[in-house]
Amino acid sequence: MGIPPAGYTKHFTVGRSHEIKALETCLHGDGAPVLLLQANYGSGKSHLLRYIRDHALSENFAASFVTLDANSGVRFNRMDQIMGAILRNIEIPPHHGPGGLAGALDFIHTACEDAREKPGGANGFWKELTNGWKWDFSERLESAPMFVALRAWCTGEQPVQDLVIDWLQEPENYRSQRKQLYTRLVEGLRPHFRDPRSDMQFYMDNVLSFHTDGYRAVWDGLRDVNTLVAEAGLRGLIVLFDEFEDVLTGLTNVQWKEAAFWNLFLFMGGKRFPGRTFYAVTPDFVVKCKDQLLEKGRFDFDYKRFDELPTFKMSPLTGTELAELAGRILSAHACAYGYRPEDVSPSQVRDLVAHLSRSPVQDRARHTIREVVKLLDTIMGDS
Ligand SMILES: Nc1ncnc2c1ncn2[C@@H]1O[C@H](COP(=O)(O)OP(=O)(O)O)[C@@H](O)[C@H]1O
Ligand SMILES: [Mg+2]
Repeated sequence: MGIPPAGYTKHFTVGRSHEIKALETCLHGDGAPVLLLQANYGSGKSHLLRYIRDHALSENFAASFVTLDANSGVRFNRMDQIMGAILRNIEIPPHHGPGGLAGALDFIHTACEDAREKPGGANGFWKELTNGWKWDFSERLESAPMFVALRAWCTGEQPVQDLVIDWLQEPENYRSQRKQLYTRLVEGLRPHFRDPRSDMQFYMDNVLSFHTDGYRAVWDGLRDVNTLVAEAGLRGLIVLFDEFEDVLTGLTNVQWKEAAFWNLFLFMGGKRFPGRTFYAVTPDFVVKCKDQLLEKGRFDFDYKRFDELPTFKMSPLTGTELAELAGRILSAHACAYGYRPEDVSPSQVRDLVAHLSRSPVQDRARHTIREVVKLLDTIMGDS
């Protein structure tokens, strides 16, 4: 497919030293909370996002790689869908456990249990969160539904955990399921904890809804996830949004677009969610955003904000870079199929790359990678 295997992006990355350095600095706390990676199709935006994800994981961050697209129903104006997608794709550094939301929740749960057993560690965040491990009620998390979900997860009961995962990953399916959530995640868990609130209060205070009040509980919940992974020993949560121009092409209604841009600006503000977020966009993204709003007569929109978005413009990979990449592919291919890289005539690969890297197709890099692999497969098949 021309895509490096997950976890090995760094090994198959060439060039981009300027961008990579700036991105790495960005993770270490300097720079803006959001960054747009801007380039044409096939120029390496997704690749660089995968690189940041791998790098963030190796630097002890949790990371989530989200692809926006109309088919998968992940829309940037719908913060409940965004939270669901972020949690569906969340990963923690592999040495801490498996990826996915279950892995992340187990990791948080373990940190909580460990704190209880530590002689001096029994104070502080985890004690406050669980109200001295009674789990009855606490306001240590900002999002009430996130507390209910985490508490239910920590009972360890399988069907309950399945429901928690489904709720957090697809919150939009639970808008009218509050009764079910209350029955199974609160009432049915009385042997584990006793929540002092009446059932009426759960409904009136929106303790089981993520979508009410302008998705307030979603933003709070994302901030809580960031806090929880940080308290559990990681450095926070990094989110990568691929195919972000879906906000221009996929959202047909101008109000949805405005809402999506507004969410981007809220991420940029860094207050709603303190972690870093990265966005892959096609060229002229900002110009197109403005044009589309102006076309619809949205003259009051705060257009200045678009100009404040920090942006990286990336050029396509050069022929020399592609040649270097071909060399790395050759080593990996030789290793996989048990031959020595010297067995392949260097000129054969070099000529192919030289020819393809001059070709005018837009998706040159991916095409070249695929053709190199194909050539190596053929040579191996023949020998
Ligand atoms: N810096 C790089 N080093 C190595 N390979 C790269 C690099 N940038 C892109 N590629 C490869 O080029 C191809 C196209 O890149 P991709 O990230 O899919 O482009 P985009 O998302 O901009 O359309 C992919 O196969 C990718 O792995
Ligand atoms: Mg891409």
